[in-house]
Amino acid sequence: RFEKLWFGASLVLIVAFVGTIVYGAIGPGVAMVGDDGGTIEAAAVSDGNFEQTENFREPGVYESTDGDGVDVYIVARQYLFNPGTAEPIEVPRGEEVTFHVTSADVTHGFNLAATNVNTMVIPGQVAKFDVTFEETGEYGIVCHEYCGSGHHTMAGQLHVV
Ligand code: CUA
Repeated sequence: RFEKLWFGASLVLIVAFVGTIVYGAIGPGVAMVGDDGGTIEAAAVSDGNFEQTENFREPGVYESTDGDGVDVYIVARQYLFNPGTAEPIEVPRGEEVTFHVTSADVTHGFNLAATNVNTMVIPGQVAKFDVTFEETGEYGIVCHEYCGSGHHTMAGQLHVV
């Protein structure tokens, strides 16, 4: 009788372990939502070369063309965010901030610490998502995808002013 009990208990544990692993693999970094509920979409760069895409030649913060909020163009590469690492990205509070993030080399991650802003940054694609920051503050930007020997140093700052 006890054997049956132990067998049942082991089975439950095994299922729980597998569930945890599957969740860990699928859960983070796939489809996340901006603070305002805006969805993150990945749009392929038309010609597969981000240098050819307007505004990625000079990454930075731009007034939105529709007159509402700002657009931020960020290029990730081993092992920095441009802008973000050398100088903080400054965005206005209470306005729609549309992020456009791409990679110049390998797959990186883009995570705003202490928020649910979290996306993969894939070469040849642009991760685009909207966030409205209701409070001023400073956020750390963290690369959360292993991207090479300097991965752990890859970080930046975003200031909401
Ligand atoms: Cu870039 Cu890890």
